[in-house]
Amino acid sequence: MFLGGSRAAFRGLSRSRSMLTILTILVGFLALMLAGVLTESTTVHEWHSFSLGARSFFSGLGGGGASSSQHSSDGGSSSSSGFSYNYAIAFQAKDRVDGVYAGLSQLDSPTGEDNYFVSVRNSHDVFAGVADGVGGWVEHGFDSSAISRELCSSMLDLSTNLTKKPLSPKQLLDLAYTKIKNDGKVQVGGTTAIVAHFTPNGTLKLANLGDSWCGVFRNAKLVFQTKFQTVGFNAPYQLAIIPQDIVRKAAQKGGSYIQNQPKDADEYNFKLQKDDIIVLATDGVTDNIATGDMELFLSNNAESGGLQELTQKFVTQVVKLSKDPTFPSVFSQEMSKLYGRPYLGGKEDDITVVVIKAT
Ligand SMILES: *[C@@H]1O[C@H](CO)[C@@H](O)[C@H](O)[C@H]1NC(C)=O
Repeated sequence: MFLGGSRAAFRGLSRSRSMLTILTILVGFLALMLAGVLTESTTVHEWHSFSLGARSFFSGLGGGGASSSQHSSDGGSSSSSGFSYNYAIAFQAKDRVDGVYAGLSQLDSPTGEDNYFVSVRNSHDVFAGVADGVGGWVEHGFDSSAISRELCSSMLDLSTNLTKKPLSPKQLLDLAYTKIKNDGKVQVGGTTAIVAHFTPNGTLKLANLGDSWCGVFRNAKLVFQTKFQTVGFNAPYQLAIIPQDIVRKAAQKGGSYIQNQPKDADEYNFKLQKDDIIVLATDGVTDNIATGDMELFLSNNAESGGLQELTQKFVTQVVKLSKDPTFPSVFSQEMSKLYGRPYLGGKEDDITVVVIKAT
């Protein structure tokens, strides 16, 4: 079952934070019902819809990076040709009507507290990931989107400009986290992260920290997925940057912040097949729909258009469900189980999806 924890950063108060979340959700539903118009104002942003072959950021390993196609002769692989990857991105930040955002002159982020990166070293060698900043910090007046944005931007940078031996996703996460801790652009924050490396021989390498998610679909059936890492309902593992005085104040109140390290990330290797569809998603997706819904979506849309169209349609549908007060979302079902009372409705959240197709 899914433990799509959401945005708690604070351990000591996790129970009362959960209650707060429920209240927030109930209030959110009420507001939505009163202002049903909101659902109509959704737009899904889409970026970067093009074939990877057309785009190379490749700057190391000898410029003509296309030589990576020769990886098929490495390691005695019997497959005649290597893998290539296409990708698409779609996202929708949740409506931020809350009072807590008022003092922040809105988040300066089209993806909300989520973020993503795709680093196309060449069409056979792609790093990608999503990260989800913990929203609770906004209540203290901090820009809680900063940490996921800086982390993704560092991972993009580091993986694009890789010149030495390739890094594992976990090493990339580690380097990027160290970099953003040192360069001081992030005041405070916590973020989940999932990092994928799509390699020339079709091995998908992953590192996951927290409750973002990766699933691999083959003929519209889920054949692989990552596990969520949480310390409890509502509280995902997270990489954090928290000044010492804030940590001390929390300790005085008998609480502590969730502060994981890159080494806590789970690692996976999965052997892809051509035509596999790989989904990287933040919990805005998995708190709403179950993997069976994703399979259904993929089989219903198998024939339709290109990858970007598919990805955008997927996000549009999840956004719609997340705003539907009658939808039995994964999150509402988890809450029902946890509190022994029926909850119903989608979970509004930032929703970010990177979809990769192996060819
Ligand atoms: C495929 O490539 C990855 C790294 O690029 C490597 O770790 C893995 O061992 C390779 N697998 C095979 C079967 O050659």
